[in-house]
Amino acid sequence: MTHALFTPITLRGLEIRNRIWVPPMCMYSALAEDGVVTPFHLMHYGSFARGGAGAIIVEATGVVPEGRISPRDSGLWNDVQRDALVPIVQLAHDHGAAIGIQLAHAGRKASTHPGWGTDSSGSLGAEEGAWRTVAPSAIPFPGLDVPEALDAAGIDAVVEAFAASAVRAAQAGFDLVEVHAAHGYLLHEFLSPLSNERTDEYGGDLAGRARLLLRVVDAVREAVGEDMPVLVRLSGTDWLEGGLTLEEVGQVGAWLSEHGVDMLDVSSGGNLHPAPIPVGPGYQVPLAAAVKQASGLPTAAVGMIDEPFQAEQVVATGQADVVLLGREMLRDQNFPIRAAKALRFAGHYITPQYERAHS
Ligand SMILES: Cc1cc2nc3c(=O)[nH]c(=O)nc-3n(C[C@H](O)[C@H](O)[C@H](O)COP(=O)(O)O)c2cc1C
Repeated sequence: MTHALFTPITLRGLEIRNRIWVPPMCMYSALAEDGVVTPFHLMHYGSFARGGAGAIIVEATGVVPEGRISPRDSGLWNDVQRDALVPIVQLAHDHGAAIGIQLAHAGRKASTHPGWGTDSSGSLGAEEGAWRTVAPSAIPFPGLDVPEALDAAGIDAVVEAFAASAVRAAQAGFDLVEVHAAHGYLLHEFLSPLSNERTDEYGGDLAGRARLLLRVVDAVREAVGEDMPVLVRLSGTDWLEGGLTLEEVGQVGAWLSEHGVDMLDVSSGGNLHPAPIPVGPGYQVPLAAAVKQASGLPTAAVGMIDEPFQAEQVVATGQADVVLLGREMLRDQNFPIRAAKALRFAGHYITPQYERAHS
């Protein structure tokens, strides 16, 4: 039997113990609305490390206040936020997991209600602390407020904010950073013709639409130095006529490779809804495989990968290099231990305090 899931992978100098990783998942739990993580986050991320995940990617974290999806998102635009993340990084390391953080700007999908604890949806009202959102063009996401189109100075400020947050991520001890360019947030909005109607050098053909993402990636690389792996999450397709296509995303992936990105995390959709998305087990794996082929970069596959043998098959057949399990890891943080048992892999991690679980 193969144990592809439990074969370590190395990105730059970083060896990661297995291929079962946790994707970024917003917890909307910076309850003081200051972008600062709390004891909840320590328990949450620590439980994935204790459960044996290879790498954990901390949730979408705003690089500026106006880049948060909701007021309860975490952020990394100041040093208080950075320092609060340090115990999470240390706990992950204590339990043998690598840990990264997804740096994000929500663009025209910012200033909305958090994902739980409220009956409201859509954009925040003025009395709820709404802020003016920004985007490539003044085209609203359906049901949300009209954003302001970024000017040249605003674009430069976005690049600088990603770089400044990346510096703080490195200072906090994170092993890797992931740039969020998927799901209809700011960098995806620039990539997609559905949301980018600019006529300057940041719009038009694919090279123009990808210009901001490549600038951000260059700035992040300069910020973190040569040793830290940089990942980019892309939507492999908009799933819509006239939207970003898989072929275009493959080309963007090839450019990202030339710009020193180490791995692509391939999700899909999010820039317009409803989109006809064929949701089902492993439905985005073919997108990861195609982007891997086109870009030559290692890829992470995500989306309804819930079973040990299914996950093993994705990696063993080379469709992707790692699997990201989101909701399944929320249901069972010990999935890696369970998968090791199912695949009869004896050398898996058990936290030392739990060693009697082996007997
Ligand atoms: C609660 C929750 C929060 C999420 N937040 C983020 C996020 O912060 N950034 C992101 O790129 N994707 C986010 N996602 C998407 C997941 O990373 C993942 O792509 C998606 O859940 C599909 O994988 P799954 O079927 O294994 O859950 C979120 C998903 C969930 C369930």
